[in-house]
Amino acid sequence: MRIAVTGATGVLGQEAVEALVAVGHEVTGITRRDSGIPIVEGRGGRAIVADVFSRTDLTRTFRGHDVVINTLAHVPVGMAGLRPLAWREDDRLHLEASVAVAEAAAQAGARKLIQESTVYLYGDNGSDWIGEDQPLSVRNQAFRPRVREMRAAVDFATSGRSAVILRLGQLFGRDRHTTHGLKAVRNGDPLLLGRPEQYITLLHHSDAGRAFVAALRADSGFYNVGGEPITKKRWAKDLGMEAGADAPAKFYPEITQALVGTRLDTQRRSLRVSSVRFMSETGWRPTVGPSTPGWSRR
Ligand SMILES: NC(=O)c1ccc[n+]([C@@H]2O[C@H](COP(=O)([O-])OP(=O)(O)OC[C@H]3O[C@@H](n4cnc5c(N)ncnc54)[C@H](OP(=O)(O)O)[C@@H]3O)[C@@H](O)[C@H]2O)c1
Repeated sequence: MRIAVTGATGVLGQEAVEALVAVGHEVTGITRRDSGIPIVEGRGGRAIVADVFSRTDLTRTFRGHDVVINTLAHVPVGMAGLRPLAWREDDRLHLEASVAVAEAAAQAGARKLIQESTVYLYGDNGSDWIGEDQPLSVRNQAFRPRVREMRAAVDFATSGRSAVILRLGQLFGRDRHTTHGLKAVRNGDPLLLGRPEQYITLLHHSDAGRAFVAALRADSGFYNVGGEPITKKRWAKDLGMEAGADAPAKFYPEITQALVGTRLDTQRRSLRVSSVRFMSETGWRPTVGPSTPGWSRR
């Protein structure tokens, strides 16, 4: 198939391009800058420079492609998320660029849209499992861009087209967020939000890349994608091991946690998310877990 990937130089995009090429698809990676071209080519894709906020540019780029995969994101690293305007770029991408991507994909004649989303839209559910039918907790204005993005993908799925929305678990691997986290663990600085007994659902980059391939086989709908959920206490221990530190990752004190604001507050939720629907429909399985040694180098 001919597949176009937006955000192709990002963590998710690069993994998606490589995984798609590996199974024989012809992949176009979109970047806004010339310096992104070798990154896409390095993963085996063909690169096109385009403005992801321009429907005209995108429609021209998407023409001739069967599928469009949207992985645009710009998540601030660590507590930088507390700075004023830290989320402005990420918001703009979800609110405007993702809508342009969905509309241009339809205009260009693509039959399928695969849209990256996140499990952090679910509310805290304690130790109970979260399936795709669980209500989202998105009433705060801060979630408007992610909701708008979802609606654009749903709108795409008319006239015989299909849209697959992947609610990805927290990514871990060789990205800026995890690298920052491992450094904090080595320094003995606090890193984690929430409480040790709460659940977290993680997804290694390489498994995320293969999930985009598997999503080609999925019918229209929402799918959770993550590994077996673990407690944050377990995650703290795994981070400590991977960092080569003397102790597990530390939690922020309650007093600091009370001040983190709406965006980072999602990280204080307990999210025991089930990916059974995606696994049974597509055959996808996670292969790298947080206790797999060396996960931060692959
Ligand atoms: N479920 C999750 O946990 C989840 C989901 C998504 C992201 N994340 C985290 O968020 C972090 C950021 O992800 P990432 O590294 O993939 O993001 P990124 O590198 O900041 O950006 C991803 C892509 O979006 C494009 N982009 C970014 N800002 C843009 C802008 N203002 N205008 C146009 N295009 C823009 C970039 O394309 P260009 O080539 O044009 O620069 C890039 O390819 C990662 O560390 C990841 O772990 C987590």
